Amino acid sequence: MQVASQEYSTYFKPRFPDRRAPFEFYPTPPAAIQALLSVEQFDGDIWEPACGDGAIGRDLVRAGYDVIATDITDWGYGYPGYDFLTLQKPFARNIVTNPPYGWGMADKFVEKALTFTADTGGRVAMLLNIASLCHPRRHADFVRRPPSVIYALDDCVCFPLGDPGRATAHTAKHRYAWVIWDHAHEGDTAFRWLSTAPFNTALA
Ligand SMILES: C[S@@+](CC[C@H](N)C(=O)[O-])C[C@H]1O[C@@H](n2cnc3c(N)ncnc32)[C@H](O)[C@@H]1O
Repeated sequence: MQVASQEYSTYFKPRFPDRRAPFEFYPTPPAAIQALLSVEQFDGDIWEPACGDGAIGRDLVRAGYDVIATDITDWGYGYPGYDFLTLQKPFARNIVTNPPYGWGMADKFVEKALTFTADTGGRVAMLLNIASLCHPRRHADFVRRPPSVIYALDDCVCFPLGDPGRATAHTAKHRYAWVIWDHAHEGDTAFRWLSTAPFNTALA
């Protein structure tokens, strides 16, 4: 794909371009979103602000939600050309996504999503690298604004461009969790284990 565009060079400057997917496009396996939807419900419409090729958006629609799907670039689904980090107004009450990770992008996505949903009253669900929970730079933010629930996924691999053939030595080492923020939540963060196996039709 063409990656020399203005929006690409705004954020993504890989030292080793061949080792990162363009625009950090690592689509979510359907089993991971289906597992989330088996345990979490959202009140109102949902924005998928980094929708890629619709891995999450499609299952949200199938589950009956009104979904608006946007992305900074065009992967063939939703509305391309929307940089989530520069938008001024939310497009829906809740935000559910697997954000781009590199260059501190996931942190910026979390921050922006929490700012938007503080206004809408909605909830945020982000698929994050579980190791990102343990970090000196993020510690204070998690303590100040604790998630309501963290779901540790047993089996989830997000391949570069969704292509197992492009996996690197690191691809399968990542471990993922759904991290949920609910502005109405009080008290401790619940920690739960969530299996993708019942939704993994490849194994059925
Ligand atoms: C890890 S992929 C996940 C795609 C999709 N959310 C999914 O779960 O399959 C990250 C996505 O973020 C998009 N993206 C990167 N930077 C963005 C930005 N600033 N605003 C909106 N989308 C962005 C990429 O184009 C890519 O589709």
